Amino acid sequence: MITVHSIQALRAALAPLRQSGKTIALVPTMGNLHDGHLQLIDLAKQHADITVATIFVNPLQFGAGEDLDTYPRTLTEDQAKLNSRDCDFLFAPNEVEMYPNGRAQQTEVSVPAISDIHCGASRPGHFTGVATVVCKLFGIAQPDVAVFGEKDYQQLKVIRQMATDLCIPVNIIGAPIARNKDGLALSSRNGYLSEQEIQLAKTLRATLQQTADLLQQGNRNIAELQESAQQQLEQHGFKRDYFVICRQHDLQPADSTDKNLVILAAAHLGAARLIDNLEVLLSSSE
Ligand code: PAF
Repeated sequence: MITVHSIQALRAALAPLRQSGKTIALVPTMGNLHDGHLQLIDLAKQHADITVATIFVNPLQFGAGEDLDTYPRTLTEDQAKLNSRDCDFLFAPNEVEMYPNGRAQQTEVSVPAISDIHCGASRPGHFTGVATVVCKLFGIAQPDVAVFGEKDYQQLKVIRQMATDLCIPVNIIGAPIARNKDGLALSSRNGYLSEQEIQLAKTLRATLQQTADLLQQGNRNIAELQESAQQQLEQHGFKRDYFVICRQHDLQPADSTDKNLVILAAAHLGAARLIDNLEVLLSSSE
C-alpha cells in the first residue's frame, strides 16, 4: 500500500489508473482502525479495482469540549492493518493540507433538515463538518464508489443527500454494522470504555432489539417504548442522549401507522458517547 499525505500526490497517483479504465473506491475514516473499518475496505474492494482509504481526524466535525484532542491517532498500526487487507492507497493529510486557509475560512457544505435532528441536535455543526470534509474528499479522489458504515445511520443519510444535491457522481454504499461477540457495535470510541463499561455497553444493542421485538409484537405506543428504553439504559449506567423510533426515509418521528422504521440511539457511558441503530420493517397487514 502506498501512503500519500498531499492532495497533489494522491491525484498524481490516481490519474493514470483512472485513465486506464480502473474504477476507484474511497473509504473515508478518522483512523484508529478496527475490524469494522477493515470490513469497509473488503466491501470497497468488491466494488472497484482500486481502493483508497483516508485517515483524517476532521476538526470541523468536533464541537467545543468534545474529544478532538484525545481522539486516538494510530497511523503506523492503521497502515499495517490496511496493508493486511490489500488496500491500495492511504491518503493521510494534515489539517493544513485539508484546510489551508484555516477552519474559519473553509467553504462549508450544510445539508438542511436532516443535519439538525438526533445527533445533529446533540452535536450542533457536526454534520456540516462531516458533509464538508466528505465533499472535499470526493473532490480530491473523484471515486466511483464510496463506502461508509451503517452504524452512523444518520451520517450516511446526510452524505447521500449531499452527493445527490450537489450532483456528485459517486455510488455510495452502506456497510452492515460490525459488532463484538456481545453485540456491541465496533467503534474507535469503545477504547474509552473500562472493562466493566464494555460489559454494560452491550445493553444498548439489547435495548434496541427489545424495542424492535415489542414493535413487531404490535405495540405502537411509540412514546412509551422510547421512554422505557431510556429508563432501561439509565438503569445500566448510561446517561441519556436520545432513543427515537423514526421513519427510515427522513428520520422524522414515526407514528403508529409507519411500517419502515429505524430505531436510533445515542447514550453516554463513562467517557464514551455510543451510537447504534436497528431497522424494523413491520408487515403491512399489521
Ligand atoms: O465516520 C467517520 O469516521 C467520519 O465521520 C468520516 C465519514 C470519515 C468524516 O470525517
